Amino acid sequence: MNARLYGVEGYLISLLKRSQTLSYYASSRGWGFVMAWAHRVAGLLLVVYVLFHIVTLTGLQEPARFSAKMAFLDNVFFAFLEWTLAVPVIFHALNGIRLILYELFGVRDEKRMLRWVFALSALYVCTLGLFMALGNQHISAGVFWLTTALAALLVTGGVCDRVWQTQNSLGWKLQRVSAAFLFPMVCGHMFFMHLNAKAGHDVNTILERMSGMGIRVIDFVFVVVIFFHAGFGLNTIIGDTVENNRLRTGIKMASCFVVLVFAYVGLRLVANI
Ligand code: HEM
Repeated sequence: MNARLYGVEGYLISLLKRSQTLSYYASSRGWGFVMAWAHRVAGLLLVVYVLFHIVTLTGLQEPARFSAKMAFLDNVFFAFLEWTLAVPVIFHALNGIRLILYELFGVRDEKRMLRWVFALSALYVCTLGLFMALGNQHISAGVFWLTTALAALLVTGGVCDRVWQTQNSLGWKLQRVSAAFLFPMVCGHMFFMHLNAKAGHDVNTILERMSGMGIRVIDFVFVVVIFFHAGFGLNTIIGDTVENNRLRTGIKMASCFVVLVFAYVGLRLVANI
């Protein structure tokens, strides 16, 4: 990771090096340490966003209020915030895949992998921005989700095959398996919601799509997997950072409770639409 870097990743790392704090940790602990923390911070941002997302979606039970909220959010400032969310999403997703390729598939060329993480992240964020600006693409929800779910099953199958051969704990294995499933699903979800402005903001379009049986099954599995992955991730972070035994157990239990409550609300929402 400390090797000389060229191209897109070299440029991005030279930008990151302008931060004194990052430079300090990169030179004393290495870029691997910085990347691991960046992955962690992005994961935490995603957890916070998913909780907010569930709260917003509960508004679908009162369509008039939901429409009013969407009208309030329909401006350049919130569109920009939605777009910036793509940065932690795609960074965490691609860096997670990089870790899985390293741990389970023996892909050890870190320089090359970093280049792919940064280049594909930039491509994803720019393409998403373009589609958000156009806001007029049409694609059948059925075709999109069938293809994405199939891709998710294929990636999950590939990771399952490798992960069971390792000696790690069941939780560790399921964290990798859930990550493999989430990779196409989360990246696809964000993209789909912005291909057409209506897909993510018009209450009737959202309700019509979510009430289809196939989409409900996919959403159900999606909610279970996301909350498992997020809950286990939080558990790991708390376990690594809180030293006091009692405090650690207390925080772990509180975070587990919050995750379970939100998962339940999400599942009820999917079932009752
Ligand atoms: C989009 C596909 C995703 C992939 C490929 C992915 C991949 C990963 C991987 C491989 C880890 C383990 C890192 C380690 O132990 O060093 C991880 C941790 C984590 N993930 Fe994800 N993840 C994804 C989506 C999400 C989502 C949607 C959330 C939040 C709702 C999330 C939250 C977390 C958290 C909090 C951790 C713990 C971070 C740590 O221990 O370093 N992830 N992820």
